Amino acid sequence: MEIRRTKITDALKCTEFGKDINVKGWVRTKRGNKQVNFIALNDGSTINNIQIVADVEKFDENTLKSITTGACISVVGKLVQSIGGGQSVEIQAEEIKIYGLADPDTYPLQKKGHSMEFLREIAHIRPRTNTFGAVYRIRHQMAYAIHKFFHDRGFVYFHAPIITASDCEGAGQMFQVTTLNLDNIQKDEKTNVVKYENDFFGKPTSLTVSGQLEAELAATALGAVYTFGPTFRAENSNTPRHLAEFWMIEPEVAFNDINDNMDLAEEFIKYCVQWALDNCNDDLQFLNQMIDKGLLERLQGVLKNKFTRLTYTEGINILEEAVAKGHKFEYPVFWGCDLASEHERYLVENHFKNPVILTDYPKEIKAFYMKQNDDGKTVRAMDVLFPTIGEIIGGSEREENYDKLMNRIQELNIPMKDMWWYLDSRRFGTCPHAGFGLGFERLLLFVTGMQNIRDVIPFPRTPKSANF
Ligand code: 4AD
Ligand code: MG
Repeated sequence: MEIRRTKITDALKCTEFGKDINVKGWVRTKRGNKQVNFIALNDGSTINNIQIVADVEKFDENTLKSITTGACISVVGKLVQSIGGGQSVEIQAEEIKIYGLADPDTYPLQKKGHSMEFLREIAHIRPRTNTFGAVYRIRHQMAYAIHKFFHDRGFVYFHAPIITASDCEGAGQMFQVTTLNLDNIQKDEKTNVVKYENDFFGKPTSLTVSGQLEAELAATALGAVYTFGPTFRAENSNTPRHLAEFWMIEPEVAFNDINDNMDLAEEFIKYCVQWALDNCNDDLQFLNQMIDKGLLERLQGVLKNKFTRLTYTEGINILEEAVAKGHKFEYPVFWGCDLASEHERYLVENHFKNPVILTDYPKEIKAFYMKQNDDGKTVRAMDVLFPTIGEIIGGSEREENYDKLMNRIQELNIPMKDMWWYLDSRRFGTCPHAGFGLGFERLLLFVTGMQNIRDVIPFPRTPKSANF
C-alpha cells in the first residue's frame, strides 16, 4: 500500500517511533562509509533537514552512488529516534525512489559558502539554499501577517491598477507601457509629437509607482483601505535598498490625521516584527547565526519602546550639530536637503538608538498631495526611519482642500487633465485623510537581516538587470 507523504516539518515533530513514513525532497548532503549512508533531505517545509539512514547492503550500489546533492528522492522507511546529535528523529530507509538526478559536475550548489553575488546569478536555483528558503518562507509569513493585520481591523483590500496614466509621486520615474513599434515611431508631421492615438490605450501610459491616488478615492468611500501590490520605479539607483520592481503596502484612512497615521504605522510595523518572532523562529535563528548576529536583538529592540517622533527641522538641527562636532557625512546637511540614508541612520542608530518618525518636511522635497502646514514651508509628511535601513515607510496627511491642492498642482506644473478624477475626491464630499506606504522588501531586509534588497525578492529587477 502506498504511504501518504509526510512533510519533513511534521516528520521532525512526530513521536510515533517505529511507524513507516514517506518523505520526499531534495538532497542537501550525503556522507557515509562502507556500511551506511547518511542523506540530509529537505523539502522546503522547514529549514531543518531530516536524516535518512541507508544501510548500504539494502540498496543497489549504483542507486546510492547516484544520489548526490540536489537530487530529488522519495524515501519510505521507519521513523526512529536519532542517536546522533543534532536531530531528534531520523528515517531508517527501506525504499528509495529517485525522481531526478543532479549531476555533481554541473549542479551549481555544491556544499556551502557561495557568495550572495554568485547566488544572484543562479536566482532560479537559490531557493534550494538554506538562506533563501528561510527568506522566502519569511516573505510569505510577512505577506500573510500584513493581510491579517488590516483584515482584523476592518480595512478593505483594494486593488489599484498596475497600468496607469498618472504619475502619483510626480518624480517622473515611470516605465512607459506601449505597443507602438519603437523601431518605427510615427510622429505628427507638424508638431513632431508621437501619435499616441495609435497606441494601445490611445494615450501614454506607464507602470504604476504607487497605488495611493486610487487608494485615496477608495478611502473616501470605504473608510479604511489598503493596497498591496507591485510598484515600479525607473530610478537609476544602484543601491542595496532600491529595486525597479518592488511591492508596496499602502493603507489609506478617512478622518485620520498625521498622528493617527503615525500610530497606525507604528502598530503595523511592530505587529509584523512580532509576527516574525512568533512564527518564523527556526528561520530567524538560522539567519541570526549565519547572516547577522545582531538580528534577533534588533527585532526585539524595535518592539520595546515607542518610536521617537520629531520634526524634520529638529532632525536637521541634530545632524548639523553632529557635523559641527566633527561627524563626516558623504552628503551635505542643510535645511531643505533630502535626507540620505546615512543621515537617517545617524538619527536612528547613533543619536536616538531607536526607530524615528520624522514629520513636517519641506514641501519642495515631498509630493504634491501632502497637506500643507500653515507656515507655508512644510507639509504634514511622516517618514519612519529604521536601524540598518533608513526610510522604511513614507506617508502623510493629505491635502483635502480643493483650492490648496489645485494651487500646488499648478505650482508644480502637473498636467491637470490627467488628474481630474483625483480632484473630484476634493470636489465631492472631501474629508481629512491620511495614509502611508511601506516598502515590502525594505521590511524584509529588516526582518531577515539580509544586506541587499536583491536578496529578499525572488527575481530582482534593477538597472541593467532583468534576468529570469
Ligand atoms: O516614499 P515613497 O515614494 O511613498 C509613496 O510612494 C507614497 N505614495 C506612499 C503613500 O503615502 N501611500 O515610497 C514608500 C516606501 C518607501 O518608504 C520605501 O520603503 C519603499 O516604498 N520604496 C522602495 N523600495 C524599494 N525600492 C525602491 N526603489 C523604493 N522606493 C520606495
Ligand atoms: Mg519616501
